[in-house]
Amino acid sequence: MSPSLSLRMANSVAFVFVFVCLSMSSYFHTMAHEWPAGGSTRFYDFKVQTMRVTKLCNTKEIVTVNKMFPGPVVYVQEDDRIIVNVTNETPYNATIHWHGVRQKLSCWFDGPSYITQCPIQAGQSFTYEFTMVKQKGTFFWHAHVSWLRATVYGAIVVYPKTGVPYPFKHPYEEHNVILGEYWLRDVLQLERQVLASGGPAPPADAFTINGHPGPNYNCSRNDVYRIDVVPGKTYLLRLINAGLNMENFFAIANHKLTVVEADAEYTKPFTTDRVMLGPGQTMNVLVTADQPIGKYSMAMGPYMSAQNISFQRISAIAYFQYLGAVPNSVSLPAKLPNFNDNLAVKTVMDGLRSLNPVDVPKMIDTNLFVTVGLNVNKCRSKTPRKNCRGMNNGTFAASMNNISFVKPTISILEAYYKKIGGQFTVDFPGAPLQFYDFANGAPNNAPNNTQAINGTRTKVLKFGSRVQLIFQDTSTVTTENHPIHLHGYSFYVVGYGTGNFNPQTASFNLIDPPYMNTIGVPVGGWAAIRFVADNPGVWFMHCHLDIHQSWGLGAVLIVENGKGELETLPHPPADLPRC
Ligand code: C2O
Repeated sequence: MSPSLSLRMANSVAFVFVFVCLSMSSYFHTMAHEWPAGGSTRFYDFKVQTMRVTKLCNTKEIVTVNKMFPGPVVYVQEDDRIIVNVTNETPYNATIHWHGVRQKLSCWFDGPSYITQCPIQAGQSFTYEFTMVKQKGTFFWHAHVSWLRATVYGAIVVYPKTGVPYPFKHPYEEHNVILGEYWLRDVLQLERQVLASGGPAPPADAFTINGHPGPNYNCSRNDVYRIDVVPGKTYLLRLINAGLNMENFFAIANHKLTVVEADAEYTKPFTTDRVMLGPGQTMNVLVTADQPIGKYSMAMGPYMSAQNISFQRISAIAYFQYLGAVPNSVSLPAKLPNFNDNLAVKTVMDGLRSLNPVDVPKMIDTNLFVTVGLNVNKCRSKTPRKNCRGMNNGTFAASMNNISFVKPTISILEAYYKKIGGQFTVDFPGAPLQFYDFANGAPNNAPNNTQAINGTRTKVLKFGSRVQLIFQDTSTVTTENHPIHLHGYSFYVVGYGTGNFNPQTASFNLIDPPYMNTIGVPVGGWAAIRFVADNPGVWFMHCHLDIHQSWGLGAVLIVENGKGELETLPHPPADLPRC
């Protein structure tokens, strides 16, 4: 990197800090305080507040952080200490999760409600404190209680340490591009109604890019996000899918995207026309403004691999607009794949390789096989027309190894740490109780037994154990790509394929697999991940489609303490919320 480029980088970081200071004035300041490894400590103040917004000619109250939508960006550097004081000024329960942050020895601050903490109740506050230990790249924070994430999210940008360049030519500018879904109705009410109905979730009213739906929807012509670009320059877009219930394609008209990072880990540069991100995934792409001067669409559209589900088909559009373009001209349309283009998804996955050879565990201590999918439970209501609107007059559920996860009444971490009984069990099975042709249905399919077992089950792992986990999609109700997210870890995605996992024929990449925190398990297929369980705590593993999470598509891994202070989870913080 040339001195002028590194200067520009320093300047752009400084600019960003100044910008944040101004826009968040009273609640942002830095301290010269040193944390181990030489990082700085960065303080943020998050006030969870409601705000009236008008979008798509509809005015409603949404829950936000600091009355910003999307919320404030957390800008830090690798190895920095982050301290965020979160005050809940809404009548609803709130928590914040720092998605992708591995929370080394800081499980108490991870954020998923009823897993590592009780929600922050109305009027209460909680201070999250953690260090970005050896992590950099694009992350995001989001609420982790009910469907609050619909509007409570924002980017986390972690720069390399001072003087450490990116492993690619330094971009002229960087932009955060957060994909979301927007509902005209109150999402918390919507969640309650959907769950009470036993039926499917209705589609979002619009997709959004940085909170803006773009011109394609009713009454949204001027609600468009725009990046002004200088001809010939290269831009780094930090893509984040914060959507609730949909996976999405993203493309820019006439421009190539070069993927250089996925889930906050560098990848070998991979050039493509479009990418797919499931909720919970982030991706950095380089885009060079090498086309004739004009106004180009950046489009976000649906990837729907499930069958018989209604979803939003209209794309959100933002503008990638060259300086000198006629402002009121129509934008050139971006070509998105068809909504069910599984091959386009596979092509992106095939292109994701860690930048350098990586240290994948070769010997495995714990082998887990976990089915992921939907269920239909028998109707138990006296008013089935109201409450049993799932398939075959049942109620929809979802499960891992056919166990539908039920949240406890206090957090599992607290129950585990303080040895409070009755909140969870340790019998999450390492394999399904029943093996069948998962990818092709029978026998666990209508009109056969599609019932899930309810439970708050955990799987206990010894500190340092080398874990392989195979996720297998099932076809009960429908096959579908599920974005499975693991808290507390990144994992190597060593293999994936369609159909049933077969150890005889599966081929694994143990050389340069991507290191991710959310894996889209292929529709009607499987994915294999590996990691070393070296971070003690209670870690949620779940589908990042919120409707599936609400239906129980999750389980909890408990990683025991190892030896000594550096392998032991510290005491809980004094202000840990009570239930
Ligand atoms: Cu992005 Cu459990 O969450």
